[in-house]
Amino acid sequence: MISPETIRELERVQGLLCALVEDLDEDSYRRQFHPDLSALGWHLGHCTYVECYWLHEVVRSDDSVTGPLRELYVPPLTPKPERGERIPSPADLLHWSRSLQAFNRDWLKGDGQPWADHELLRDEYLPRFLIQHHSQHYETMLMALTQRALAQPADHVVREVLRASTPRHDVREVAGGHYPIGGTAPDAFDNELPQQHVALDPFSIARHPVSNGEFLAFIEDDGYQREELWSEEGNAWRTRNAIIHPDHWRRDGAGHWYGVGVRGPCDLSADAPVMGLSFHEAEACARWAGARLPHEYQWEVASRIGLLDDSGRVWEWCANPFAPYEGFKAFPYAEYSTPWFDGRHRSLRGGSLHTQPCIKRPSFRNFYETDKRHIFAGLRLVYP
Ligand code: AVJ
Ligand code: FE
Repeated sequence: MISPETIRELERVQGLLCALVEDLDEDSYRRQFHPDLSALGWHLGHCTYVECYWLHEVVRSDDSVTGPLRELYVPPLTPKPERGERIPSPADLLHWSRSLQAFNRDWLKGDGQPWADHELLRDEYLPRFLIQHHSQHYETMLMALTQRALAQPADHVVREVLRASTPRHDVREVAGGHYPIGGTAPDAFDNELPQQHVALDPFSIARHPVSNGEFLAFIEDDGYQREELWSEEGNAWRTRNAIIHPDHWRRDGAGHWYGVGVRGPCDLSADAPVMGLSFHEAEACARWAGARLPHEYQWEVASRIGLLDDSGRVWEWCANPFAPYEGFKAFPYAEYSTPWFDGRHRSLRGGSLHTQPCIKRPSFRNFYETDKRHIFAGLRLVYP
């Protein structure tokens, strides 16, 4: 009933989660590397739990696996700082996860079962949902590894010094008009639906995201200190937290900037997209450049007509709050999107170098609060 390709993709993503956990020492498995991030080991347990929740508990009405683990693996029920100490040993969690993952794949492979025509399995909805769910947690685990690398003593010496470059006005024009937006079943999440047409005024959009070299020009032009470039909330955030550079940037002994990634420190390439920015920093940088952040509809339309080079290298902050489309219906569960339509989250589009291919589509909507910068996010400019 489920295609071999989909089973293989599920197995691949399950394998990514397990391989990452298998490589960790016990401390890295349990430690919370950032206030917004759970212990690395917890993500694997949560993903296995979520699989069993949908496939065992919802479809087959069997809660024998999930019932006893609900408190630990349903996010609001255990505070993030307690998750690391409450999960089983790495060996036990890996063994438990691998055997349930294999069981779930076998179960999905089987046909003629009484559940084959359950509405959540039609068009492979659940396995595709799970692949995307796990992929998002995998990216979050890479954020935690980046925070681990940032916390390690740094002895990096920059070899290729980053130089500032003025933003190039290399743009593509989009005519005003009515354009389709939204995702398609079975891959779309609820927040991408229903598909609809939106009216857009003409705009120009940069072909590339803002680069490291361009962001350095913002820094060197006192962008972090110039109040007029920041929103009121942005100024309050920046001064309260003494923010003066991207989250993933550090300076060596000679004062040269370098970046810290999943695998540790690295020179910053001038043309690569800047990342490690909050919404506030992205907004200030856009204002400094005489531009704006795109509305997410502008981003999606430009992406669909093939105008965006280098998308999918960094998540791109959009100007608008994350909000339901007209006609939105929560599916398959209310907590995926609905709690985050709170006016405090902004949409991000595109995907980062650490995002799995199944997530990188023009209609996919990511969302974070305006002060989050541990994510792999940067920006692209639009001009009215
Ligand atoms: C859409 C990436 C913000 O990781 O918090 C995972 C996705 N939702 N499990 C998150 C999600 C439930 C979500 N983001
Ligand atoms: Fe989750």
